[in-house]
Amino acid sequence: MHAKGLSSKTVLAELKRISEKDRRYDDGKILCSMCTKPHLLAEKAYRLFLSSNLGDPGLFPGSAQLEKEVIKELATLLHGENCVGYLVSGGTEANLMALLAARNMARASQSEVVLPESAHFSFTKICNLLNLKPVYAGLDSSFRVDSSSVEKCISKNTVAIVGTAGTAELGVIDPIDELSHIALEHNVWLHVDAAFGGLVIPFLTNAKYNFDFNLEAVKSITVDPHKMGMAAIPAGGIIFRDSKTLDFIKTETPYLTDEFQYTFVGTRIGASAASAWAVFKSLGMGGFTKIVGNCMKTTRLLTDGLKNASFKLVVEPTLNIVAFRSRQSTKHLAEKLWERGWFVSYVPRYDCIRIVVMPHVKKRHALAFLKDLIKIEKL
Ligand SMILES: Cc1ncc(COP(=O)(O)O)c(C=O)c1O
Repeated sequence: MHAKGLSSKTVLAELKRISEKDRRYDDGKILCSMCTKPHLLAEKAYRLFLSSNLGDPGLFPGSAQLEKEVIKELATLLHGENCVGYLVSGGTEANLMALLAARNMARASQSEVVLPESAHFSFTKICNLLNLKPVYAGLDSSFRVDSSSVEKCISKNTVAIVGTAGTAELGVIDPIDELSHIALEHNVWLHVDAAFGGLVIPFLTNAKYNFDFNLEAVKSITVDPHKMGMAAIPAGGIIFRDSKTLDFIKTETPYLTDEFQYTFVGTRIGASAASAWAVFKSLGMGGFTKIVGNCMKTTRLLTDGLKNASFKLVVEPTLNIVAFRSRQSTKHLAEKLWERGWFVSYVPRYDCIRIVVMPHVKKRHALAFLKDLIKIEKL
């Protein structure tokens, strides 16, 4: 630290210079992110609530109200009446709270959780933290979890089954209805990781998927406003079907304005709730349907272009995620794309390039990408 503080002008100029190292969503070249540029109102709302703390709600009842209202909106979207929940730091914390609840409720001696092979890597951290043994179920030929494999993985120690509605790598939706039957039969908790898909699937116009609280066994859902919800980071969401669940995750707070906390993170910025609230109010169902519709159109444009250029898709996209392979080395192609400023993911597990068609990826960006890709592959 400097002995004497610098002027605001100097500090801001230095920050501006450093911020220029960061990539910008507006360039349309970030093709590997499940986050996007926040909605304009999300940014404005965020600034209004910058100093509020949801971890001490007695001091910030306005922010606490916004959090409750956002959770209510999310729960309603996911067909959950009387659900409860919290805005958390992201999908990782949301999944953590769900499995903490399931584990504490079951009280098995050596707790196990049945995960699809395609489950998000956050579950590896969570199993580590909660001392849960992960038992992996295989996938079918469309990369959805195979429910007969899930059933075979269940033992007397199973405390939860997890299904994903929108996998991070391929955007695949597991057969949550089949998992619900299995969970009911074996009387185990079913958690749905819809961190990404939870704010896409309800707005699809050409397909319907049963993945939410409509299904009896679903006890908890992760759904993140900071992904397709266009809210500012950090805004993850965890929704529980039943308020009694909260008893299994509560921690007494010795000196704060609320007697208990139900999230892992203590101090939580109220601006997250304000930004999600502003986006939901401003867009409504119609606005989200339009945004998701545009992303799906661009996804189709991209897949058609890839097929015409003889690239091979790993799977036909269900959501706005495209995964494809090169005729030569896919990893090498991904590296060349990065060198030329196209930020794609390379996924070793499927040996594919993955593109997430977020709202900042417009038709013109997809066309420019296809043109460059064809050139770059030939180099
Ligand atoms: C399906 C899924 N679950 C969980 C997560 C973790 O979310 P976060 O990075 O916000 O913690 C992600 C992140 O992309 C995800 O796609």
